[in-house]
Amino acid sequence: MSGAARRAGEAADAGAITVEPASRPLRGAVRVPGDKSISHRAAILAGLAAGPSVIRGFSPAGDCTSTLGVLRALGVGIDERDGELRIAGGGLRAPRTDLDCGRSGTTMRLLAGALAPGGFRSTLTGHPQLLRRPMERVAEPLRLMGARVETSAEGRPPLVVDGAPLAGIRHLLPVASAQVKSAVLLAGLDAGGETAVIEPVPTRDHTERLLAWLGAPMERREAPDGEEIAIRRFALPAFRLDVPGDPSSAAALLAAASMVPGSDLTIDGVGLNPARIGFLGALARMGADVEIIADEEDPEPIGSVRIRHAPLRGIAIGAAEVPGMVDELPLLGVVATAADGPTEVRGAEELRVKETDRVAGLVAGLRALGAEAEELPDGFVVTGVSPLAGGSCDALGDHRLSMAFAVAGLAAAGAVRVLGPDRVDDSFPGFWAVLGSLA
Ligand code: S3P
Repeated sequence: MSGAARRAGEAADAGAITVEPASRPLRGAVRVPGDKSISHRAAILAGLAAGPSVIRGFSPAGDCTSTLGVLRALGVGIDERDGELRIAGGGLRAPRTDLDCGRSGTTMRLLAGALAPGGFRSTLTGHPQLLRRPMERVAEPLRLMGARVETSAEGRPPLVVDGAPLAGIRHLLPVASAQVKSAVLLAGLDAGGETAVIEPVPTRDHTERLLAWLGAPMERREAPDGEEIAIRRFALPAFRLDVPGDPSSAAALLAAASMVPGSDLTIDGVGLNPARIGFLGALARMGADVEIIADEEDPEPIGSVRIRHAPLRGIAIGAAEVPGMVDELPLLGVVATAADGPTEVRGAEELRVKETDRVAGLVAGLRALGAEAEELPDGFVVTGVSPLAGGSCDALGDHRLSMAFAVAGLAAAGAVRVLGPDRVDDSFPGFWAVLGSLA
């Protein structure tokens, strides 16, 4: 099957996917599934709300399904009808089982915050991939607020949260993490006094936007050490929300279009939150012809993105830019192989504690495909133009690496066999079909 992604020949290649070079430019207009980050937050807020909420465009990604599973285990009624998710609300109740967060760090970290004020004990656990990830970063502030929170060896999950009456804190984020920020703000919804988070570098602000939209008493102010976001106790009302398309999923298709000559691709109905579209800015700086057409903004900006292929050049990305494209950095590494000159990413040590060590995984994969790439302690360098010959590379069971290597396959001279269990459904169900239909 030329020019398309296809499952590699059954038994011998079980768990591998072969992507052949694009046989034509990527053209036309497509949509991507709902935003994962907004979906997680909307579901949790709906579970805490006073009455039933309706969410349209909820992400079908495996990670968001994990959030729904945990909410159900916490007694929240959830029903899917006519493409709409109906969440009964009424708050969280003591679970009868451990809470399985699957592979989703967002599920575990955000729910730890939502559970902190509850008067019961719960154990958040998940897939071995998740059990390797750092959780002390959420445990510590929640303890300071008054919850009893235990982590396992070296601050890893399972995370045992013993909910208790909370008091607000003022917490300076030690790492730029929207998940930690959100956990503290969710706990602050039911804490005495004011709960404030200070972020030295801005991260995605979906939690703040949704809470402000719902009427929560919030304040954003400049502090000497960054932006301070403060919240006070608030009973959430029920709501109706449309979730925009996921810019991180769109990024994979845009990356492919930026590499395949002649491409002219539009993604419609996609989220344009400024804290999420750093990758578009990076592509434009590299020389891609990127057009952003904003449509509406309540509570999240949404619109279309059009990209037209153009010659690319290498760029430098520093720590301040990383949160705005943290999930897209593997894609940036792939695009950099087609750019003239080096592309250097620094200040991205967080990439090493995502679902996998994405610095190591990306660089190993790019080198296996013939590119010149090197690891840095806090990022990577790709020296372009570095033609991708094709071959086999290992996505390590990481959805973002799988998608990045699939894009590499479209732009490579020969077929690319992506090894490792394919976890793309964790974030972009339908990815292989969309890619196949476009290229
Ligand atoms: C997310 C925040 C990011 C991102 C993750 C989703 C979120 O993580 O990598 O995929 O929804 O808050 P950190 O903020 O912890 O870096």
